[in-house]
Amino acid sequence: MTEQNNSLVQIRDLYKRFSISGDLLDQLQFKGGKLIRHQEYVHAINGVSLDVMPGEALCVVGESGCGKSTVARTVMGLLTPTAGQIFYRGERIDNLSDKQMLPYRKKMQMIFQNPYASLNPRMTIMETLREPIRFHNRAMSSGEIRDKIAEVMLAVGVDPSWGERYSHEFSGGQRQRISIARALAVDPEFIVADEPISALDVSIQAQVLNLMMDAQKERNLTYLFITHDLAVVEHFGTRVAVMYLGTLCELAPTKQLFSSPRHPYTQALMSAIPRLEDDRPDYIKLTGEVPTPVNLPSGCVFHGRCPHVNERCKREIPALTLLQDGTQVACHGVEENRL
Ligand SMILES: Nc1ncnc2c1ncn2[C@@H]1O[C@H](COP(=O)(O)OP(=O)(O)O)[C@@H](O)[C@H]1O
Ligand code: SF4
Ligand SMILES: [Mg+2]
Repeated sequence: MTEQNNSLVQIRDLYKRFSISGDLLDQLQFKGGKLIRHQEYVHAINGVSLDVMPGEALCVVGESGCGKSTVARTVMGLLTPTAGQIFYRGERIDNLSDKQMLPYRKKMQMIFQNPYASLNPRMTIMETLREPIRFHNRAMSSGEIRDKIAEVMLAVGVDPSWGERYSHEFSGGQRQRISIARALAVDPEFIVADEPISALDVSIQAQVLNLMMDAQKERNLTYLFITHDLAVVEHFGTRVAVMYLGTLCELAPTKQLFSSPRHPYTQALMSAIPRLEDDRPDYIKLTGEVPTPVNLPSGCVFHGRCPHVNERCKREIPALTLLQDGTQVACHGVEENRL
């Protein structure tokens, strides 16, 4: 099945739940003298639709546990959706076999948060970079592979003469540069970066971010960039998707989201950014407990903490709606013109 539009990646009505009830024996319970099977789920993603346009850096933000990594892994084919579809250049990819997925594995690369865990400590840098190049380019000669390795090492600012060293000999920042080099080595079009700088020293976060931005310009890359840091988004993103409890609250061009956030959750997030300027919005303190994705609230998932909640919000799930200014927002209050 193909889906026509200009996006590079389309996420369509995605749901992902994880069973947390163990194996069958753990699930069996006696209730009223009867043996019943009780299953419990984490509802990590609940109906997310999102288009990633070619050449953009689409940032996904939201607090820990809201489902950012699950979106990333599902898009990459590392998790199978419970429902919904993923398209790449209009081709459906969430239901492909490993073999059918191979060409997409070259076009789509992922950079993980923890460069300590994502690099094999028993491999030299040279081996780490050679493996994916060789795997995806069977016809390349050893000389061409060596040139490619040197090219990507230079691109990420790691001296090619260090190729025989092991990853444990490098600092966190250098390891993340090497992870980026490994992603770039197969000439991808699309990179999913899941909090790629959060584990790094603050002093080197900007360097790694800049290097990713340079790589984007030079190689025409498209990013799905996941972060919980709004300062990074403002610097890096062309558009921002704000998530809360496995749903998309708001999707807008970066400047617009920062100057006029529409969803009450986005407004609260924005008000918490420390700013030097006087135009900072008043700090909005959210009350109410953060609900768990095991027992999802009815209606709007944000209703227990929203200062603008009404009866409809508690019953009806708000749909993502396109406003005149190009922002998409899922909020009854905005739709009813009372916000
Ligand atoms: N493999 C898993 N099994 C059970 N629950 C999971 C699993 N992966 C993620 N979750 C749960 O799904 C929710 C979303 O997690 P995640 O996507 O990692 O959020 P984020 O990246 O935004 O912090 C969380 O409640 C998390 O505990
Ligand atoms: S739908 Fe209602 S509860 Fe949800 S964010 Fe909008 S106003 Fe608040
Ligand atoms: Mg995460």
